[in-house]
Amino acid sequence: MKTIQIGFTISVLAFLLGCSKSSIDETWEGLKFPAHFPPPVYEMKDNPVTKAGFELGKKIFYDPILSKNNTISCGSCHIQSSAFTHHGHDLSHGINDQLGKRNALPIQNLLWQTSFFWDGGVHNIDLISLNPIQNPVEMDEDPQQVLLKLKNHAEYPALFKKAFGTEEINTARFLQALSQFMAMLISSNSKYDQYKRGELSLSAEEMEGLQIFKSKCSHCHAGELFTDNSFRNNRLSSQFNFDKGRYEISLIPSDIGKFKVPSLRNITLTAPYMHHGQIGTLEGVLDHYALNVKNSSTLDSSLISNQGLGINLDAQEKKRIVSFLNTLTDETFIKNTHFSE
Ligand code: HEC
Ligand code: HEC
Repeated sequence: MKTIQIGFTISVLAFLLGCSKSSIDETWEGLKFPAHFPPPVYEMKDNPVTKAGFELGKKIFYDPILSKNNTISCGSCHIQSSAFTHHGHDLSHGINDQLGKRNALPIQNLLWQTSFFWDGGVHNIDLISLNPIQNPVEMDEDPQQVLLKLKNHAEYPALFKKAFGTEEINTARFLQALSQFMAMLISSNSKYDQYKRGELSLSAEEMEGLQIFKSKCSHCHAGELFTDNSFRNNRLSSQFNFDKGRYEISLIPSDIGKFKVPSLRNITLTAPYMHHGQIGTLEGVLDHYALNVKNSSTLDSSLISNQGLGINLDAQEKKRIVSFLNTLTDETFIKNTHFSE
Protein backbone atom coordinates (compact mmCIF):
# COMPACT_ATOMS: atom_id res chain seq x y z
CA MET A 1 0.00 0.00 0.00
CA LYS A 2 2.76 2.39 1.06
CA THR A 3 4.84 1.71 -2.08
CA ILE A 4 1.78 2.33 -4.22
CA GLN A 5 1.25 5.64 -2.44
CA ILE A 6 4.90 6.66 -2.84
CA GLY A 7 4.74 5.61 -6.47
CA PHE A 8 1.62 7.71 -6.91
CA THR A 9 3.19 10.73 -5.19
CA ILE A 10 6.26 10.41 -7.41
CA SER A 11 4.19 10.28 -10.56
CA VAL A 12 2.15 13.31 -9.47
CA LEU A 13 5.38 15.17 -8.77
CA ALA A 14 6.84 14.07 -12.09
CA PHE A 15 3.65 15.21 -13.82
CA LEU A 16 3.79 18.63 -12.13
CA LEU A 17 7.48 19.01 -12.93
CA GLY A 18 6.73 18.00 -16.51
CA CYS A 19 4.06 20.69 -16.70
CA SER A 20 6.20 23.47 -15.31
CA LYS A 21 8.99 22.48 -17.67
CA SER A 22 6.91 23.42 -20.64
CA SER A 23 6.18 26.86 -19.18
CA ILE A 24 8.30 29.64 -20.57
CA ASP A 25 9.79 30.51 -17.16
CA GLU A 26 11.50 27.19 -16.87
CA THR A 27 12.76 26.91 -20.41
CA TRP A 28 13.59 30.54 -21.23
CA GLU A 29 17.16 30.56 -22.47
CA GLY A 30 17.17 33.99 -24.04
CA LEU A 31 18.67 34.77 -27.41
CA LYS A 32 21.21 32.18 -28.57
CA PHE A 33 22.97 32.07 -31.92
CA PRO A 34 23.38 28.62 -33.49
CA ALA A 35 27.06 27.61 -33.49
CA HIS A 36 27.01 26.53 -37.14
CA PHE A 37 25.54 29.85 -38.37
CA PRO A 38 27.76 32.78 -39.34
CA PRO A 39 27.81 35.78 -36.96
CA PRO A 40 24.46 37.63 -37.12
CA VAL A 41 24.04 41.03 -38.74
CA TYR A 42 22.05 42.16 -35.66
CA GLU A 43 23.21 41.17 -32.20
CA MET A 44 20.35 43.04 -30.47
CA LYS A 45 22.89 44.91 -28.31
CA ASP A 46 20.81 48.11 -28.43
CA ASN A 47 17.63 46.21 -27.71
CA PRO A 48 18.59 43.21 -25.58
CA VAL A 49 15.99 40.47 -25.67
CA THR A 50 14.42 39.86 -22.27
CA LYS A 51 11.69 37.41 -21.38
CA ALA A 52 9.26 40.25 -20.58
CA GLY A 53 10.12 42.06 -23.82
CA PHE A 54 9.72 38.89 -25.88
CA GLU A 55 6.35 38.11 -24.29
CA LEU A 56 5.12 41.65 -24.85
CA GLY A 57 6.27 41.47 -28.48
CA LYS A 58 4.47 38.17 -28.92
CA LYS A 59 1.24 39.54 -27.52
CA ILE A 60 1.46 42.53 -29.86
CA PHE A 61 2.28 40.27 -32.83
CA TYR A 62 -0.89 38.24 -32.34
CA ASP A 63 -3.16 41.18 -31.48
CA PRO A 64 -5.61 42.40 -34.19
CA ILE A 65 -5.72 45.74 -32.30
CA LEU A 66 -2.92 46.76 -34.68
CA SER A 67 -5.33 47.03 -37.62
CA LYS A 68 -7.83 49.79 -38.27
CA ASN A 69 -10.93 47.64 -37.66
CA ASN A 70 -9.27 45.31 -35.14
CA THR A 71 -9.53 42.24 -37.39
CA ILE A 72 -6.02 41.56 -38.71
CA SER A 73 -2.95 40.72 -36.63
CA CYS A 74 0.60 40.12 -37.83
CA GLY A 75 -0.12 36.48 -37.13
CA SER A 76 -3.04 36.50 -39.61
CA CYS A 77 -0.57 36.55 -42.50
CA HIS A 78 2.42 35.00 -40.72
CA ILE A 79 1.25 31.61 -39.46
CA GLN A 80 3.65 29.52 -37.38
CA SER A 81 2.76 26.14 -38.90
CA SER A 82 3.87 27.43 -42.29
CA ALA A 83 7.09 29.01 -40.98
CA PHE A 84 5.25 32.29 -40.42
CA THR A 85 4.01 32.72 -43.99
CA HIS A 86 0.46 33.01 -45.31
CA HIS A 87 0.13 29.43 -46.47
CA GLY A 88 -2.17 28.77 -49.37
CA HIS A 89 -2.26 32.41 -50.47
CA ASP A 90 -0.23 33.45 -53.46
CA LEU A 91 -0.79 37.09 -52.56
CA SER A 92 -1.54 37.86 -48.94
CA HIS A 93 -5.01 38.95 -47.83
CA GLY A 94 -5.28 41.88 -45.49
CA ILE A 95 -7.95 44.14 -44.06
CA ASN A 96 -11.45 43.83 -45.59
CA ASP A 97 -10.12 40.84 -47.55
CA GLN A 98 -8.04 43.08 -49.79
CA LEU A 99 -5.26 41.55 -51.87
CA GLY A 100 -1.66 42.65 -51.49
CA LYS A 101 0.71 42.55 -54.42
CA ARG A 102 3.27 40.14 -53.00
CA ASN A 103 3.58 36.69 -51.45
CA ALA A 104 4.19 36.85 -47.68
CA LEU A 105 7.76 36.07 -46.62
CA PRO A 106 8.56 33.75 -43.71
CA ILE A 107 9.66 35.34 -40.43
CA GLN A 108 12.72 33.36 -39.48
CA ASN A 109 16.39 34.10 -38.81
CA LEU A 110 15.82 37.82 -39.37
CA LEU A 111 18.99 38.66 -37.44
CA TRP A 112 21.08 37.32 -40.34
CA GLN A 113 19.46 39.53 -42.98
CA THR A 114 20.96 42.77 -44.24
CA SER A 115 17.58 44.02 -45.49
CA PHE A 116 13.92 43.06 -45.39
CA PHE A 117 11.05 42.54 -47.85
CA TRP A 118 11.30 41.20 -51.40
CA ASP A 119 12.73 44.53 -52.56
CA GLY A 120 14.94 45.17 -49.51
CA GLY A 121 12.96 48.34 -48.81
CA VAL A 122 13.71 48.28 -45.07
CA HIS A 123 17.22 48.05 -43.65
CA ASN A 124 16.49 48.28 -39.95
CA ILE A 125 14.82 45.43 -38.12
CA ASP A 126 12.96 47.89 -35.87
CA LEU A 127 11.28 49.58 -38.83
CA ILE A 128 9.75 46.46 -40.39
CA SER A 129 6.48 46.65 -38.48
CA LEU A 130 5.51 50.18 -39.53
CA ASN A 131 5.10 48.95 -43.12
CA PRO A 132 2.30 46.41 -42.66
CA ILE A 133 0.51 48.62 -40.10
CA GLN A 134 0.32 51.58 -42.48
CA ASN A 135 -0.18 49.59 -45.68
CA PRO A 136 -3.77 50.28 -46.82
CA VAL A 137 -4.32 46.67 -47.97
CA GLU A 138 -2.68 45.04 -44.92
CA MET A 139 -3.63 46.70 -41.60
CA ASP A 140 -4.44 50.25 -42.77
CA GLU A 141 -3.84 51.86 -39.39
CA ASP A 142 -2.03 54.97 -38.15
CA PRO A 143 0.77 53.94 -35.75
CA GLN A 144 -0.21 56.82 -33.41
CA GLN A 145 -3.68 55.32 -33.25
CA VAL A 146 -2.20 51.93 -32.34
CA LEU A 147 -0.26 53.55 -29.48
CA LEU A 148 -3.48 55.17 -28.23
CA LYS A 149 -5.30 51.84 -28.28
CA LEU A 150 -2.45 50.22 -26.36
CA LYS A 151 -2.37 53.04 -23.78
CA ASN A 152 -6.10 52.64 -23.13
CA HIS A 153 -5.86 48.86 -22.93
CA ALA A 154 -6.38 47.03 -19.62
CA GLU A 155 -3.17 44.97 -19.84
CA TYR A 156 -0.57 46.70 -21.99
CA PRO A 157 0.64 49.49 -19.65
CA ALA A 158 1.67 46.92 -17.02
CA LEU A 159 3.31 44.74 -19.67
CA PHE A 160 5.35 47.69 -20.99
CA LYS A 161 6.42 48.40 -17.41
CA LYS A 162 7.57 44.81 -17.00
CA ALA A 163 9.52 44.98 -20.25
CA PHE A 164 10.93 48.52 -20.17
CA GLY A 165 10.74 49.70 -16.54
CA THR A 166 7.89 52.23 -16.82
CA GLU A 167 4.35 52.20 -18.19
CA GLU A 168 5.26 54.63 -20.96
CA ILE A 169 4.12 53.38 -24.36
CA ASN A 170 5.91 55.02 -27.27
CA THR A 171 6.79 54.12 -30.85
CA ALA A 172 10.33 53.02 -30.05
CA ARG A 173 9.29 50.65 -27.27
CA PHE A 174 6.42 49.27 -29.33
CA LEU A 175 8.73 48.50 -32.27
CA GLN A 176 11.50 47.16 -30.04
CA ALA A 177 9.13 44.70 -28.36
CA LEU A 178 8.08 43.37 -31.76
CA SER A 179 11.75 43.08 -32.77
CA GLN A 180 12.50 41.12 -29.60
CA PHE A 181 9.79 38.60 -30.45
CA MET A 182 10.88 38.30 -34.08
CA ALA A 183 14.56 38.07 -33.15
CA MET A 184 13.81 34.89 -31.21
CA LEU A 185 12.27 33.21 -34.28
CA ILE A 186 15.42 31.28 -35.10
CA SER A 187 15.08 28.14 -37.15
CA SER A 188 18.16 25.94 -36.89
CA ASN A 189 17.04 22.40 -36.14
CA SER A 190 16.12 20.86 -39.49
CA LYS A 191 17.42 17.46 -40.54
CA TYR A 192 20.08 19.37 -42.50
CA ASP A 193 21.15 21.21 -39.30
CA GLN A 194 21.33 17.94 -37.42
CA TYR A 195 23.53 16.59 -40.22
CA LYS A 196 25.73 19.71 -40.01
CA ARG A 197 26.10 19.20 -36.26
CA GLY A 198 27.15 15.61 -36.86
CA GLU A 199 24.06 14.17 -35.16
CA LEU A 200 22.84 12.14 -38.12
CA SER A 201 23.65 11.45 -41.74
CA LEU A 202 21.61 12.29 -44.80
CA SER A 203 20.38 9.55 -47.13
CA ALA A 204 22.31 8.88 -50.34
CA GLU A 205 19.67 10.71 -52.40
CA GLU A 206 19.65 13.72 -50.04
CA MET A 207 23.48 13.87 -50.15
CA GLU A 208 23.44 13.78 -53.96
CA GLY A 209 20.81 16.50 -53.92
CA LEU A 210 23.02 18.61 -51.66
CA GLN A 211 25.98 18.19 -54.04
CA ILE A 212 23.91 19.22 -57.07
CA PHE A 213 22.48 22.12 -55.08
CA LYS A 214 26.00 23.26 -54.18
CA SER A 215 27.11 23.25 -57.78
CA LYS A 216 23.99 24.75 -59.38
CA CYS A 217 22.13 26.87 -56.82
CA SER A 218 24.41 27.92 -53.98
CA HIS A 219 26.11 30.87 -55.67
CA CYS A 220 22.79 32.67 -54.99
CA HIS A 221 21.20 30.58 -52.22
CA ALA A 222 24.50 30.67 -50.33
CA GLY A 223 25.76 29.50 -46.96
CA GLU A 224 23.85 28.27 -43.94
CA LEU A 225 21.07 30.81 -44.46
CA PHE A 226 20.73 29.81 -48.14
CA THR A 227 20.91 33.39 -49.38
CA ASP A 228 23.71 35.78 -50.22
CA ASN A 229 21.36 38.67 -49.28
CA SER A 230 21.58 40.03 -52.83
CA PHE A 231 18.89 41.03 -55.32
CA ARG A 232 18.74 39.15 -58.58
CA ASN A 233 16.53 38.50 -61.53
CA ASN A 234 15.79 34.80 -62.05
CA ARG A 235 13.31 35.83 -64.72
CA LEU A 236 9.90 34.54 -63.97
CA SER A 237 8.32 36.62 -66.68
CA SER A 238 9.39 38.84 -69.51
CA GLN A 239 7.31 41.73 -68.15
CA PHE A 240 7.82 43.58 -64.88
CA ASN A 241 5.09 46.16 -65.25
CA PHE A 242 3.19 44.97 -62.20
CA ASP A 243 6.12 44.77 -59.79
CA LYS A 244 9.57 46.12 -60.62
CA GLY A 245 11.14 44.73 -57.43
CA ARG A 246 14.38 46.29 -56.21
CA TYR A 247 14.01 49.14 -58.72
CA GLU A 248 11.03 50.44 -56.72
CA ILE A 249 13.46 51.23 -53.90
CA SER A 250 16.69 52.08 -55.73
CA LEU A 251 15.24 53.66 -58.94
CA ILE A 252 18.28 52.26 -60.75
CA PRO A 253 17.15 50.87 -64.14
CA SER A 254 19.49 47.87 -63.90
CA ASP A 255 17.50 46.79 -60.81
CA ILE A 256 14.23 46.29 -62.70
CA GLY A 257 12.95 42.78 -62.04
CA LYS A 258 15.45 41.98 -59.29
CA PHE A 259 14.14 40.49 -56.05
CA LYS A 260 15.75 39.34 -52.84
CA VAL A 261 17.32 35.89 -53.04
CA PRO A 262 15.12 34.21 -50.42
CA SER A 263 16.36 31.73 -47.84
CA LEU A 264 15.28 28.18 -48.60
CA ARG A 265 14.93 27.10 -44.99
CA ASN A 266 11.49 25.55 -44.32
CA ILE A 267 10.81 25.78 -48.05
CA THR A 268 8.43 22.79 -48.02
CA LEU A 269 6.15 24.75 -45.67
CA THR A 270 5.97 28.04 -47.52
CA ALA A 271 4.28 27.30 -50.87
CA PRO A 272 3.35 28.97 -53.13
CA TYR A 273 6.72 30.29 -54.24
CA MET A 274 8.36 33.45 -55.59
CA HIS A 275 7.50 37.08 -54.89
CA HIS A 276 4.19 36.82 -56.66
CA GLY A 277 3.39 33.26 -55.53
CA GLN A 278 3.30 32.21 -59.18
CA ILE A 279 4.67 28.68 -58.68
CA GLY A 280 2.81 26.13 -56.57
CA THR A 281 5.34 23.35 -56.02
CA LEU A 282 9.08 22.76 -55.69
CA GLU A 283 8.95 20.60 -58.83
CA GLY A 284 7.43 23.61 -60.58
CA VAL A 285 10.29 25.80 -59.32
CA LEU A 286 12.87 23.39 -60.74
CA ASP A 287 11.00 23.22 -64.05
CA HIS A 288 11.15 26.99 -64.11
CA TYR A 289 14.94 27.03 -63.67
CA ALA A 290 15.40 24.22 -66.22
CA LEU A 291 12.90 25.24 -68.89
CA ASN A 292 11.17 28.58 -68.45
CA VAL A 293 13.80 31.22 -67.72
CA LYS A 294 13.17 34.17 -70.02
CA ASN A 295 15.73 36.63 -71.25
CA SER A 296 15.90 40.28 -70.33
CA SER A 297 18.54 42.93 -69.89
CA THR A 298 18.69 42.36 -66.11
CA LEU A 299 18.61 38.54 -66.11
CA ASP A 300 21.32 37.23 -63.78
CA SER A 301 24.43 36.46 -65.85
CA SER A 302 24.83 33.10 -64.10
CA LEU A 303 21.60 31.97 -65.76
CA ILE A 304 22.99 32.56 -69.25
CA SER A 305 25.40 30.05 -70.82
CA ASN A 306 26.38 28.65 -74.22
CA GLN A 307 23.75 25.97 -73.72
CA GLY A 308 21.04 28.60 -73.36
CA LEU A 309 19.09 30.20 -70.54
CA GLY A 310 18.46 28.76 -67.09
CA ILE A 311 20.03 25.86 -65.23
CA ASN A 312 20.75 22.51 -66.82
CA LEU A 313 18.82 19.90 -64.79
CA ASP A 314 17.60 16.43 -65.77
CA ALA A 315 14.69 14.62 -64.11
CA GLN A 316 16.97 12.68 -61.71
CA GLU A 317 18.75 15.81 -60.59
CA LYS A 318 15.47 17.62 -59.96
CA LYS A 319 14.25 14.73 -57.83
CA ARG A 320 17.45 14.72 -55.78
CA ILE A 321 17.38 18.44 -55.23
CA VAL A 322 13.79 18.18 -53.95
CA SER A 323 14.90 15.41 -51.54
CA PHE A 324 17.61 17.70 -50.27
CA LEU A 325 15.25 20.69 -49.95
CA ASN A 326 12.98 18.48 -47.82
CA THR A 327 15.76 18.22 -45.23
CA LEU A 328 15.47 21.97 -44.59
CA THR A 329 12.15 21.62 -42.75
CA ASP A 330 12.42 22.39 -39.04
CA GLU A 331 9.59 20.77 -37.09
CA THR A 332 10.83 22.09 -33.73
CA PHE A 333 10.52 25.64 -35.04
CA ILE A 334 6.92 25.33 -36.18
CA LYS A 335 5.90 23.42 -33.04
CA ASN A 336 7.72 25.57 -30.47
CA THR A 337 4.91 26.65 -28.13
CA HIS A 338 6.93 29.68 -26.98
CA PHE A 339 6.21 31.18 -30.39
CA SER A 340 2.51 30.25 -30.52
CA GLU A 341 -0.44 32.52 -29.99
C1 HEC B 1 -1.98 41.26 -44.91
C2 HEC B 1 -0.93 40.33 -44.63
C3 HEC B 1 0.22 40.79 -43.74
C4 HEC B 1 0.14 41.32 -42.47
C5 HEC B 1 -1.09 41.67 -41.68
C6 HEC B 1 1.51 41.46 -42.03
N1 HEC B 1 2.38 41.01 -42.99
FE1 HEC B 1 4.38 40.88 -42.83
N2 HEC B 1 4.51 40.43 -44.79
C7 HEC B 1 3.44 40.28 -45.65
C8 HEC B 1 3.91 40.26 -47.02
C9 HEC B 1 3.05 40.12 -48.27
C10 HEC B 1 5.32 40.40 -46.97
C11 HEC B 1 6.26 40.55 -48.15
C12 HEC B 1 6.09 42.00 -48.57
C13 HEC B 1 7.14 42.53 -49.48
O1 HEC B 1 8.22 41.96 -49.59
O2 HEC B 1 6.90 43.59 -50.08
C14 HEC B 1 5.66 40.51 -45.55
C15 HEC B 1 6.95 40.62 -45.06
C16 HEC B 1 7.27 40.66 -43.71
C17 HEC B 1 8.61 40.58 -43.18
C18 HEC B 1 9.88 40.49 -43.99
C19 HEC B 1 10.63 39.20 -43.88
C20 HEC B 1 11.87 39.19 -44.73
O3 HEC B 1 12.51 38.16 -44.76
O4 HEC B 1 12.23 40.19 -45.37
C21 HEC B 1 8.50 40.67 -41.81
C22 HEC B 1 9.61 40.57 -40.79
C23 HEC B 1 7.10 40.85 -41.50
N3 HEC B 1 6.38 40.82 -42.68
C24 HEC B 1 6.59 41.07 -40.23
C25 HEC B 1 5.28 41.49 -40.00
C26 HEC B 1 4.80 42.08 -38.75
C27 HEC B 1 5.64 42.31 -37.51
C28 HEC B 1 3.48 42.35 -38.92
C29 HEC B 1 2.52 43.02 -37.95
C30 HEC B 1 2.91 44.35 -37.49
C31 HEC B 1 3.13 41.92 -40.27
N4 HEC B 1 4.25 41.44 -40.89
C32 HEC B 1 1.86 41.98 -40.79
C33 HEC B 1 2.13 40.16 -45.27
C34 HEC B 1 1.63 40.62 -44.07
C1 HEC C 1 20.83 33.70 -60.08
C2 HEC C 1 20.59 33.43 -58.67
C3 HEC C 1 19.77 32.18 -58.38
C4 HEC C 1 20.07 30.88 -58.68
C5 HEC C 1 21.28 30.33 -59.44
C6 HEC C 1 19.01 30.09 -58.10
N1 HEC C 1 18.10 30.89 -57.48
FE1 HEC C 1 16.42 30.29 -56.58
N2 HEC C 1 15.83 32.23 -56.34
C7 HEC C 1 16.56 33.34 -56.73
C8 HEC C 1 15.77 34.52 -56.59
C9 HEC C 1 16.21 35.96 -56.89
C10 HEC C 1 14.50 34.10 -56.12
C11 HEC C 1 13.27 34.98 -55.87
C12 HEC C 1 12.74 35.42 -57.21
C13 HEC C 1 11.42 36.10 -57.22
O1 HEC C 1 10.57 35.84 -56.39
O2 HEC C 1 11.23 36.93 -58.12
C14 HEC C 1 14.59 32.65 -55.99
C15 HEC C 1 13.57 31.84 -55.52
C16 HEC C 1 13.67 30.48 -55.32
C17 HEC C 1 12.67 29.67 -54.67
C18 HEC C 1 11.34 30.18 -54.11
C19 HEC C 1 11.55 30.66 -52.70
C20 HEC C 1 10.35 31.26 -52.04
O3 HEC C 1 10.41 31.48 -50.83
O4 HEC C 1 9.36 31.54 -52.71
C21 HEC C 1 13.14 28.39 -54.62
C22 HEC C 1 12.46 27.18 -54.02
C23 HEC C 1 14.43 28.40 -55.26
N3 HEC C 1 14.73 29.68 -55.67
C24 HEC C 1 15.26 27.29 -55.40
C25 HEC C 1 16.40 27.27 -56.18
C26 HEC C 1 17.11 26.09 -56.56
C27 HEC C 1 16.76 24.68 -56.11
C28 HEC C 1 18.13 26.48 -57.38
C29 HEC C 1 19.12 25.61 -58.12
C30 HEC C 1 18.54 24.67 -59.05
C31 HEC C 1 18.07 27.93 -57.47
N4 HEC C 1 17.00 28.38 -56.75
C32 HEC C 1 18.96 28.70 -58.16
C33 HEC C 1 17.85 33.32 -57.19
C34 HEC C 1 18.51 32.18 -57.64
